[in-house]
Amino acid sequence: MAEEIQKFQVSIDGISVEVDAGTTILNAARQIGGDIVPPAMCYYSKLEGSGGKCRTCLVKVTKGSEKDPRPMPKLVASCRTTVMDGMEVQNITSPDVVDARKSVVEMLLINHPLDCPVCDQAGECKLQDLGYEHGSENTRYDFPRRTFERIDIGDKIQLHMNRCILCYRCVYVANQLTDTREHGILYRGDHAEISTFIENALDNDYIGNVIDVCPVGALTDKTFRFKNRVWFTKPVNAHRDCPSCSGKVTLWYKGADVLRVTARKDEYDEVEEFICNTCRFDKKETADWTLEDPTKISQESVIASNHYSQFQPPAVIAENTPLKEANWEQLARTEKLK
Ligand code: SF4
Ligand code: FES
Repeated sequence: MAEEIQKFQVSIDGISVEVDAGTTILNAARQIGGDIVPPAMCYYSKLEGSGGKCRTCLVKVTKGSEKDPRPMPKLVASCRTTVMDGMEVQNITSPDVVDARKSVVEMLLINHPLDCPVCDQAGECKLQDLGYEHGSENTRYDFPRRTFERIDIGDKIQLHMNRCILCYRCVYVANQLTDTREHGILYRGDHAEISTFIENALDNDYIGNVIDVCPVGALTDKTFRFKNRVWFTKPVNAHRDCPSCSGKVTLWYKGADVLRVTARKDEYDEVEEFICNTCRFDKKETADWTLEDPTKISQESVIASNHYSQFQPPAVIAENTPLKEANWEQLARTEKLK
């Protein structure tokens, strides 16, 4: 008989949820959803062992458990801390957490260049979002920044080591998805860097997935490089019969041209199913694909700006003249798109 999984009750920012024993605080928060979900720059639910590197997911445990209600003495990484029965956690309701997150962002930005205007990841960059929400206007750091020589890692993937935040996701992808691990993190601390050791091209069938998991613009798609800003493209879900992967992708269109192919991503910006290099790099014709629907993009994302996604006014707006006037731009766009 299957063993019954123990359930724990946990409260995050005052919202209770029942989860399986062994669930992390971060995943418990994801089961609730919304603003109380801590940001995660290194944890990736599809990559075993990920998490615990960036500290953006810090939260405050104000009650350890029903049995031992003492608070935890320090903020904890929610992606690495499992819930206990009766645990009470604060995320956005704790000024300590908000303050700590600001410091983590400041720390991540010490060496990350602010080159968003020329970075292909702009608009999809988690650090950009964090910087927008928690960043300071100025830095207190006076010392020279880390900089690296350009490293060529092949004709499909561009590595910009200056932008890397050492989250290790790409190393886990190489370890867990490909037969041959060809790169890793060399050295430690301030000297740590992604390297292919002998600067080998990363040429195995699934390595393109490092582009999708990289939270910043350190690993980008050379075949899409500088072709367009992501918010000017139109994402459409499509599939093909692929012998190597699920063949389920998002095509990023500009007019009739497919500029880029990526895996589909969920609401936490994690890949739903990893895709092979052939689908990603070699199938850039509409004829290669069966098109499905326009990809649903969160209204908050810059990718959604100026897009075809239609604004469906709630009844209260539709029936109220001043509210209709206030929303005239969205309503006019929706009309045009009908
Ligand atoms: S290159 Fe990207 S995915 Fe790899 S460790 Fe650096 S930030 Fe993370
Ligand atoms: S997401 Fe938890 S430490 Fe990075």
